[in-house]
Formats: sequence, structure tokens, C-alpha cells
Amino acid sequence: MIKIAMVGFGTVGRGFARALAENREIIEKKIGKYRVTAICDSKSSITGDFRIDEAFKHKSERGRLPESRSAEEIIEEGNFDVLIETTPTDVFSGEPGLSYIKRTLKSGRDVITSNKGPLVVAYRDLMRLAERHGARIGFEATVGGAMPVIKMIRDELAGNRIKRLRGILNGTTNYILSRMEKEKAPYPQILSEAQELGIAEADPGYDVEGIDAGAKLVILANSVFGRNVRFQDVEIRGITRITPEAFEIAVEKGYTIRLIAEADENGKLEVSPRLVKLTNPLAIYGTLNAVLIETDLAGEVFVIGRGAGEKETASALISDLVDFYGNGSFG
Ligand code: HSE
Repeated sequence: MIKIAMVGFGTVGRGFARALAENREIIEKKIGKYRVTAICDSKSSITGDFRIDEAFKHKSERGRLPESRSAEEIIEEGNFDVLIETTPTDVFSGEPGLSYIKRTLKSGRDVITSNKGPLVVAYRDLMRLAERHGARIGFEATVGGAMPVIKMIRDELAGNRIKRLRGILNGTTNYILSRMEKEKAPYPQILSEAQELGIAEADPGYDVEGIDAGAKLVILANSVFGRNVRFQDVEIRGITRITPEAFEIAVEKGYTIRLIAEADENGKLEVSPRLVKLTNPLAIYGTLNAVLIETDLAGEVFVIGRGAGEKETASALISDLVDFYGNGSFG
């Protein structure tokens, strides 16, 4: 029986809990029986012998879970094998997730996170900590949501030299740019519509100024290229100055404009709006994410998928769970 504790019960946490309940049969075929032993958010918790639907009921009826134990107490108590950490991202301090993750790894327990902040601030420290304490940290959900990229490169492209990654790592800005291209409407008007889709960051400045894409690029650079870079090392320009006129000129010449994140083996680390040929696979539309991976043996590999959303992020978190505890079977 795998015991799962969850810190964070917002959109992502709830999506994960729902997917665990709904896809139980599929998941148990791969990892055996599991049980959620604790869930906590910033002000409340539920522990002991409970069903996941009880947690949902409490949260929706009272806005909080029934107990007041903190994440620290739950981690300290240690009644779990793996911590699912989905607290809000702060790419500058990494907190509060960073402390929760460190504490869990130090106790020799595994962590799976969707939170970019801790990995942006302390990627190398966390990897070392995990190694030292015989624990694991899964972070597929931090980059590109359901789009497989971290483990795709680690596993399916194992043995390749990765030369360059270029991609679209933010769905909100891609949606805005797609609409600007088609409708020639100015960006502030579309931003508010993008927020209604529910995938924009709490502070949409994180999206439109390229901070979210920059954070994901740091995680890719550190994991794929074995670098030790920080957020401050990324050259970032967002999309706030792109005008409908710029699109008109671009499209006339057979191009569009997309917010491209790029990292290569020589140390390039950049997020900026670029002209992309309309025939280029990176000229994608809507909230999709995509990455073009250039390798020595496999040549170019292109991945595309949904970069955010409740179910999509749950898919990535569960892929790490199965990676850690799975039997490798298909069925
Ligand atoms: N705000 C992000 C996006 C969500 O638009 O891609 C996923 O990190």
C-alpha cells in the first residue's frame, strides 16, 4: 500500500485527488494499492482514515478542511511514502514549497511536485538532498503540464546528446498571440479573456512578462543540460510590447510571432518574442505548449500538448507516481 500525502489543495491538488479517485483501476494496475493519508492547504487539513470525497465535501461546503494541522506537522509526522507538493509558485523564494520538499527529502521520503519555484531556486541542492537521503523527486508537472518532456528526454532520448531545445512553454501568452494574429486585436483586451480560461498565473504578469516561461526554461536547462543556472541567468523579454501592426507585417511575409524559450548546449538561455515561419511546427495555436528537441542521434523530436489545466497537470503528477512505484507494464 503506497501512502500519499498532499500539500496544496488548490486547482492542481484537487485535480490530482480527483484523478486518483477516477482512474484508480488504471493506476492500481501499475502501482498496486494506494491511499491518501493526509491533505492540507494553507489553513486546514484532513488526516487519518478518510475518503477523498470527504475532503472535497468539506472544502466546497465550508471552504476549508476539517482539521487545523499544518503542512509542517504532517510532514514531521511522516505517515506517507510520497508527498505531492502543489503549493503556489514563487520563483524568487521558492517558498513555501521549498521548505516542505527539503524536509520530506531529508526524511528519506519521495516528493512529486508541480511547483516550479523550489526547482528554479534550488535545483541542484534538491537533487543532492534526494540522493544523500535515498529519496526521489519527480517534477514532470513543472514544465509543460501534460506535455511529456522531462522524462521524454531522460528516458526516450537517453544516450543522445541534446544540442538545443526551443519551445513554447506558456499557454496563456500563446493564446494571446494566436488571437492577436487572427484578429489583430490589442493585447490587454485578449489578456482578460485569457484569464477567464483559468490557466493564467494568479499574477498574469508572470505570463505576459515571460517569467513563467523563464522559470520552466531554468528547470529544463538544469535537468537536461546539467547546468546550475538560476532565474536571473535567463535573458527575458515578454510580449507586452507586441502590437497588432507587428503581426500584420509578420503575417504578410509568411511569419507569425511566438514567445520562444530557448536553451542550448553552449549556455544560451533566452525567452523572447520571435518571428516564426507559419510553416514551422512551433507556429502552434491556442493554449498549447510545444518543444522542438535537437539531438545528435535521433535528430529532431517534436512534442506538443496541453501545458496547463487541472486534469493535464494531474496527468503529469501521476506519471511521476507511476515512474516511482510502477511495474513497467502497459495494461
Ligand atoms: N500560466 C501557465 C501557462 C500555467 O499559461 O502556461 C502553467 O504553468
